[in-house]
Amino acid sequence: MNENIQFLQAFLKNPGKVGSITPSSPELAQKMCEGIRPDKDNAVLELGVGTGAITKFLQEIVPDDKSYLGIELDRDLVRSLKRNFSGMQIVRGNACDATEVHKRSGIGKIGYIICCLPFVSLPNDVGEKIHLEIDKFMRQGCTFRTFQYAHGFYMPSAIKFREFMRDRYGKSKKSPLIVKNVPPAYTLTWKTN
Ligand SMILES: C[S@@+](CC[C@H](N)C(=O)[O-])C[C@H]1O[C@@H](n2cnc3c(N)ncnc32)[C@H](O)[C@@H]1O
Repeated sequence: MNENIQFLQAFLKNPGKVGSITPSSPELAQKMCEGIRPDKDNAVLELGVGTGAITKFLQEIVPDDKSYLGIELDRDLVRSLKRNFSGMQIVRGNACDATEVHKRSGIGKIGYIICCLPFVSLPNDVGEKIHLEIDKFMRQGCTFRTFQYAHGFYMPSAIKFREFMRDRYGKSKKSPLIVKNVPPAYTLTWKTN
């Protein structure tokens, strides 16, 4: 099935959890992967894999099957991700349990988190649980990158997440606005390594 249609179906089924009507563009995906050099001692954890718009680019830089772990909540998306990315470990799971999923995966230390979760439209309690999970990885030394849509950048939950990260890890590195994405977005990066 066409990736855009599959994504739209997932959105219509669960708008708050998917948070966008189209997958990330190649321009945003490339920006999300910029400077990332994973290996088995610094694996990539992708949260909210969707249809794999960013995974496609990660696949090019991930050297082996011990250097990537993806977590996606939607069962139908995971089924097709497993077909399309057979060499990559993609788990149906909840980012609220990311550290547990990681422990069970057999993947080594997480050196990079690529986070595609729509904090703006997730329930507050879910967002807060995920923030704490991210924090556990960050404490072990990690580069964390996410994107925030321009139209939601000043929404309370977007600000709350930035403040959570800034209080612990300082100011983020913010990209220029990526206009070739629907909707336009910024990437934000924090590092603790
Ligand atoms: C904005 S989409 C991003 C998809 C893809 N990475 C992209 O950039 O096109 C967010 C994805 O996060 C997933 N998601 C939402 N809440 C989640 C959670 N608690 N745990 C894991 N995945 C979740 C949704 O099902 C959806 O596929």
